[in-house]
Amino acid sequence: MADETTAPDIPTQLEALEREAEAQLSACAADADFNEWRTTYLGRSGKVTQLLRGLGGLPKEERPRIGQLANTVKQRLAAALEAQQAQLRRNEHAEALKAEALDVTLPGEPVRAGQLHPITQVLNEILGIFERMGFHVVEGPEVEWDRYNFALLNIPADHPARDMWDTFYVDAEPVSNLGSMLLRTHTSPVQVRVMEETPPPVRIVAPGRVYRNEATDASHEAIFYQIEGLAVDDRINMGDLKGVLTAFARQLFGGKTRVRFNCSYFPFVEPGAEVSISCHVCSGNGCRVCKQTGWLEILGCGIVHPNVLRAVNYDPEKYSGFAFGLGVERIAMLKYGIDDIRYFYGNDIRFLEQFR
Ligand code: DAH
Repeated sequence: MADETTAPDIPTQLEALEREAEAQLSACAADADFNEWRTTYLGRSGKVTQLLRGLGGLPKEERPRIGQLANTVKQRLAAALEAQQAQLRRNEHAEALKAEALDVTLPGEPVRAGQLHPITQVLNEILGIFERMGFHVVEGPEVEWDRYNFALLNIPADHPARDMWDTFYVDAEPVSNLGSMLLRTHTSPVQVRVMEETPPPVRIVAPGRVYRNEATDASHEAIFYQIEGLAVDDRINMGDLKGVLTAFARQLFGGKTRVRFNCSYFPFVEPGAEVSISCHVCSGNGCRVCKQTGWLEILGCGIVHPNVLRAVNYDPEKYSGFAFGLGVERIAMLKYGIDDIRYFYGNDIRFLEQFR
């Protein structure tokens, strides 16, 4: 009786169970599925173990064979589980590779190259012209003393000429001899700083930022760039000044440029002049850029005032010099036909990119 109902049954049931387990396994697609499957079929109270509970009803001599069989099934199922898991890992890996696949034959993405700011470009160009004429580039501090920005430049305290520069004063105690601390209103103090430390001859250009307490509009910024020039030697005269500045203007604006010197006043030069160039847009015939005058004013200059030379212990009977000062933004505007100074510092990439 027992032979008929259980003994032949267990191997058959085992076989059926193995088929079922294999079918279920092939549907597993994640670690959670595998864990569940393992519990269901191979666990301590899993289906295979349960089946073996019927072993007790078998004749003694049958038991080892059936037990052996059950173990083999368990081993095969465990091996199948491992194989299936390994396959899943391989599939995942292949998919990951595919996702990050790189077509090395595709053209690269262009890197956006940076560039120098247009003011830096013009500044470098101007300095280059003067360097080739023998001038050295020097720099001075942007936070200055009254003494250098004004007093030693022949602009005494309370002199009305100070009205030419709307000054930002620094909130610090004035120092005797040096006076108030301020943001330099021009690069002219570098003239004095150089002469104080160097005996003649001197040939320098001094670029840098200057500050004016000024409302911003199309032609004024509170912060802008200037380049100062100074040449001191024996017998420097107005002819030297005109020659140097004419050569400069022609290199920057073209060889046909005409240069005009008009009398003007700056406390640190005598005589003083304003330099204009013939309008390079209309060749001097009159246009919107030169406001129909045919001329564009580009800088201030003059013969260094004897008081300035005396203040730095240069003997004005022995030495003379010329000086000039120009606004870099203004020159850039004239050179490129830009009608509003605020474009330079507006950080609009469409403007800046035009100066590649
Ligand atoms: N420092 C003057 C200014 O900012 C410009 C200037 C004029 C400089 C005449 C000079 C000069 O050296 O000789 O307005």
